[in-house]
Amino acid sequence: MTVFVYGADGVLRADEVDLATIAQAVDTPFYCYASTVLTARFRAFAAAVRPLNALICYALKANGNLAVIRTLAREGAGADVVSGGELERALAAGIPPSRIVFSGVGKSPAELRLALRHNILQINVESVPELHGLSAVAADMGTTAAVALRVNPDVDAQTHKKIATGRRENKFGIDFVDIPETYALASRLPGVRPVGLAVHIGSQITHLSPFRQAFVAMADLVCALRSTGHAVERLDLGGGLGVSYRDEGVPAPEAYARCVAETVGGLGCHLAIEPGRAMVAEAGVLVARVLYVKAGIDRRFAIVDAAMNDLLRPSLYDAYHPILPVRQPDPVKAPEPYDVVGPVCESGDTFAVDRLLPPLRSGDLVAFLAAGAYGAVMASEYNARPLVPEVMVRGREFATVRRRPTLAERLAQEPMPAWLRD
Ligand code: LLP
Repeated sequence: MTVFVYGADGVLRADEVDLATIAQAVDTPFYCYASTVLTARFRAFAAAVRPLNALICYALKANGNLAVIRTLAREGAGADVVSGGELERALAAGIPPSRIVFSGVGKSPAELRLALRHNILQINVESVPELHGLSAVAADMGTTAAVALRVNPDVDAQTHKKIATGRRENKFGIDFVDIPETYALASRLPGVRPVGLAVHIGSQITHLSPFRQAFVAMADLVCALRSTGHAVERLDLGGGLGVSYRDEGVPAPEAYARCVAETVGGLGCHLAIEPGRAMVAEAGVLVARVLYVKAGIDRRFAIVDAAMNDLLRPSLYDAYHPILPVRQPDPVKAPEPYDVVGPVCESGDTFAVDRLLPPLRSGDLVAFLAAGAYGAVMASEYNARPLVPEVMVRGREFATVRRRPTLAERLAQEPMPAWLRD
C-alpha cells in the first residue's frame, strides 16, 4: 500500500500530506495516522470474513484514539474493550453497544455495571469468581448478561513471551478442562446466560498453526458442550494476527479466514474476531526530530526527541520498527550504523541498535513506521514529557486528533494539599 512513501519533492508523505508540513504545524514528536490505511485494512478483513458472516470487533487497546475508532466504526466495526474507559471510548466514537464485547481478567463491579447498563453484546468471563461476581451484579440490576467463557486452550502462540496469553501458566481464561463444569454453572446462576465461548491466545502471531490448534480445541469444546445439552451460539476467536515489522511473512486476512472456516466454520455459531494490531499498526508512524548526533568511542548515537515514553515497544519487547528519514536520502551517501535513542534517563530508552541509516544530522526528521498499534496508547509522561499529539491524514487533509496538553493543563491535574499552599 503506497501511503507512507516519498513524494516527487523527496519528502515522506502520509497519503497526500508531507510529514514535514505536519511537523511544522504540530511540532515533534507526533503520531500520524493515515485514514486510508485504516479503512483499507478493515475492508480487507471484512471481505475475508464476509462468507463467515463474522462480526469484526476492533480491539481498542491497539489504538483508542476517538478518530481512529470512529473511522473504523463508520466501516461497520464493532469493538473489543477491556476496561470501562475503553467501553466509554467505543460508545463515544459511535460503536453501537450491540457490537461491543468486553474482555479482560479483572473487570471491576463498576465496570460490569457500566457494561450491563449499556446492554452490550457480550461479556467474556475469565474465571469462576468473575462469573459469580457478574451474576450478583446483574441479578441486582434485574438484568441478564450474555456471557461467553474465555477458554485457556494451553496453546503456544509462538510469539514474544510478554504477549502470549494462551498457555496454562498465563493468567488468562478458564482452563480448557474446567469449561464444561463452568458452562453448566453459568447456566444455573441467576443474572447470566452462557451464549458461547471466547479465546485469544496472544498477539503478533505470524503463523496460522497456533490459531488452528486453538480453533480446533474450541470446536471440540463446542461439540462436547452441545452433547451434554448446552446451547453454544457464539464463538469469539480473539485477535492476534501479526503484521510485518521487518520481513516476517504474515498470513493475509484471507488465509486467516480460511483457517477459521476450516476449523469452526461448520458449527453454525455466530462468529466474532477481535483484531487490533492488524487493523491499525501499518496506519501509523511516529515522527521525531534528530536533536544530536553523538559519536561515541565505538558507536554513533542519533539522539531523537521521541523516547521510550512515547513508543515503548522497542524498550519493552525489543521490538523492531523500521526508521525512515523524512527527507529522501541521497542515494550516493552510504548508510552508517546508528544507535537511535531518546532523551529519557535510562539506557533502555533505545529504539534501535546498530541500525543502518543514511547519514543523519541534527534537525533531520525521522519516521518510525508501523507505529499505529500499541504506540500512543502505551505512552506515559515519564520524565515529565507530555503525551505527544496525534494527527490523522485523509487525502490532502489533516487534523490534530489529540492535541499536546499545555503546561497549565498538566499542572492543574495536581492540586497542592492545603498544608503546602502558601
Ligand atoms: N483480544 C484480546 C482479548 C486481547 O487481549 C488482545 C490483545 C486483542 C484482542 C488484540 O490482539 P491483536 O490483534 O492486537 O494482536 N502491547 C503489545 C500487544 C499486547 C496485546 C494484548 N492483547 C505489543 O505492543 O506488542
